[in-house]
Amino acid sequence: MAAPPEPVLAAPLVDPMLPRVGRVRARRRDAPLVFTLEIEPAEGSLPPFAPGQFNMLTVFGVGEVPISLSGDPARPGRLIHTVRAVGPVSTALSRLDRGDPVGLRGPFGTGWPVEQAAGSDVVVVAGGLGLAPLRPALYQLLAPRRRYGRIALLYGTRSPADILFAREIDAWRRRKDIEVHVTVDHATGDWPHQVGVVTSLISRARFDPARTTALVCGPEVMMRFAIGTLQGAGVASTQIYLSLERNMKCAIGLCGHCQMGAAFICRDGPVFRHDRVRDMLALREI
Ligand SMILES: Cc1cc2nc3c(=O)[nH]c(=O)nc-3n(C[C@H](O)[C@H](O)[C@H](O)COP(=O)(O)OP(=O)(O)OC[C@H]3O[C@@H](n4cnc5c(N)ncnc54)[C@H](O)[C@@H]3O)c2cc1C
Ligand code: FES
Repeated sequence: MAAPPEPVLAAPLVDPMLPRVGRVRARRRDAPLVFTLEIEPAEGSLPPFAPGQFNMLTVFGVGEVPISLSGDPARPGRLIHTVRAVGPVSTALSRLDRGDPVGLRGPFGTGWPVEQAAGSDVVVVAGGLGLAPLRPALYQLLAPRRRYGRIALLYGTRSPADILFAREIDAWRRRKDIEVHVTVDHATGDWPHQVGVVTSLISRARFDPARTTALVCGPEVMMRFAIGTLQGAGVASTQIYLSLERNMKCAIGLCGHCQMGAAFICRDGPVFRHDRVRDMLALREI
């Protein structure tokens, strides 16, 4: 008698709503209420990510929130997230310690146009925690450095104590191939650099506006002023990219929580070209 046919097993579908379990490998305090977590997956390897993408992180029993990847895309085995404790889930995340479990879904969303910017000058404008989603882009810009023209990092925080990744910023300052300007709203101690809003740094940076790509991330009001100043300096709206944040639930374009006009921030963003969201941003200001 012929052997019964082997059952055909469908390839297992990976449910994008199902978190994988990881564990905190390290935790570091970066600034008041801001912590950077390094997470390792409990099983399997991690998918690669693009600068600007985010993961949904779960603290079991508390909740799930979107958090940007802030590590080096060239080292996808090191999953780095920088979290500010603002509410229940982010506070619980920031309190996780070495060995604690954390749920992971992602990476989701669009990334910074690092590849497309090859050959142009790049101006990175970051406000506060906005440096975290931009750090992976900086790693990529600086790795094959010769692919870009001038690169400038313009970073503003409330005070010197709020500066993220301070040691790395100092190392970038010492390089000759990136121009770094940092400003604070309120200087303390012997702060030797600028005081004032981050937009005031745009006139200090050297770049050719006609061939510049600008990456902007920070509080929405800061981004509005930065974009206005960049445009005033001659950078076209089509060359300016920004990252938007909204409350999220599914992160895969199903629930509508993150909808802004016709766009879903989780699926069509969080990184958008300015001319494509300009009208929606203007409407929100009314
Ligand atoms: C794509 C994306 C990337 C993000 N990346 C990071 C990151 O790298 N690091 C980080 O610390 N946070 C990041 N956030 C914000 C983070 O998701 C929220 O701070 C978090 O969801 C707050 O949840 P909670 O339960 O701790 O506080 P909640 O109780 O939900 O909120 C506390 C306070 O924060 C405000 N808030 C909540 N979510 C947002 C939001 N998305 N945007 C603006 N204000 C908000 C609320 O209005 C409230 O005032 C990101 C958000 C998005 C959408
Ligand atoms: S979070 Fe559900 S549609 Fe974006």
